[in-house]
Amino acid sequence: MKNIVILISGRGSNMEAIVRALDAERWPARIAAVISNKPDVKGLAFAQARGIPTAVVPSKEFASREAFDAALRETVDGFAPDLVVLAGFMRILTAPFVEHYAGRMLNIHPSLLPLFPGLHTHRQALEAGVLEHGATVHFVTAELDHGPTVLQARIEVLPGDTEESLAQRLLEKEHVIYPQAVRLFVEGKLSIDDGAVRIAAATSS
Ligand code: GRF
Repeated sequence: MKNIVILISGRGSNMEAIVRALDAERWPARIAAVISNKPDVKGLAFAQARGIPTAVVPSKEFASREAFDAALRETVDGFAPDLVVLAGFMRILTAPFVEHYAGRMLNIHPSLLPLFPGLHTHRQALEAGVLEHGATVHFVTAELDHGPTVLQARIEVLPGDTEESLAQRLLEKEHVIYPQAVRLFVEGKLSIDDGAVRIAAATSS
């Protein structure tokens, strides 16, 4: 049984997709906790209603990034995670925090990385005039929105698309690839080889 800790900052729809897939597909894992840096967010209410332990480490109340990350690390480690999942967690993390979870922390970013790191990815895609947009699940490294890619999903950019329409169509894809990536991790099928992710072939049982 692998322990998963999920970090959120708001709506938590990716967290929800992971929780539902874990239950439906009976992964060898449990959600040890859902932790938010903001109180009273929708994702916390969902987790509480499912009986999942929750915690809030309020980023607003810390004077420095280092102090917040130290408190967050203590809270996360209190749940003995095998895997930390960033799901709409809107914080830039310090290098020591990231290094502490090296090889066991995943993020989803709404672009086809390395294109469009940072915020407003749908706007960036529209402004660049790309015909294809997407989302990336990757291992987290100290460089923001970088790190070995686990899975990507693609959508076509259609005439008339707006930031909102892209976000909405892409979110449906995020809800597919993020649970898939987390499942691969908890089943021990992911490894990192020279900076690239290797996915072990499915075995028939
Ligand atoms: C998602 O689009 C995710 O890719 C990005 O932030 C959004 C979070 O949505 N990092 P939710 O909180 O999972 O609903």
